[in-house]
Amino acid sequence: MRIVVLVSGTGSNLQAVIDAVQAKDLPVEIAAVGADRPGTYGVERAAAVGIPTFVVDFKQYGKRADWNAELTERTAAFEPDYVISSGFMRIVDQRFLDRFPNRYLNTHPALLPSFPGAHGVRDALAYGVKVTGCTVMIADAGIDTGPILSQAAVPVLEDDTEESLHERIKIQERALLIETLRDLALT
Ligand code: GAR
Repeated sequence: MRIVVLVSGTGSNLQAVIDAVQAKDLPVEIAAVGADRPGTYGVERAAAVGIPTFVVDFKQYGKRADWNAELTERTAAFEPDYVISSGFMRIVDQRFLDRFPNRYLNTHPALLPSFPGAHGVRDALAYGVKVTGCTVMIADAGIDTGPILSQAAVPVLEDDTEESLHERIKIQERALLIETLRDLALT
């Protein structure tokens, strides 16, 4: 199973996937890692282990559709079976989704459909939920919508900050992503 991973930032989930592949714990080939802006640590992590990388810089495109078209072509060039949005903080359009039908996965640090969007951890904390978690789903054209593939729960502690809670969620999120990819690779 070939995957392309898209990142916008730190890429700690990506690192977990890289580590699992290298440990032969995940029968997947990371064909490439792409980003929507230059200078992400995620791309750096990939380059450090010899994984091809590409950047389709959102800010260089006047029209979202043009950025989307380029992202679609650059991603498709690696012929992935699945594309993983791993902290990729951009919505892709129908053209991209049509190119990878049911093959574009996303992770989110909350138990969807609760707390979608860019601040899932902050919003859950602000609401006062006692349990939150993470979700892996098949992404569609909405913001953190689409069929849910897997979820894991994480209790919210009394003294949690957004950072401390997100760190604990990410531990579960990494394991969940790897487990979900393994299931897909073996079916
Ligand atoms: C992850 O927790 C991911 O679920 C979240 O961004 C973080 C990226 O971390 N994505 C979203 O909030 C999407 N709505 P990473 O760059 O260290 O892997």
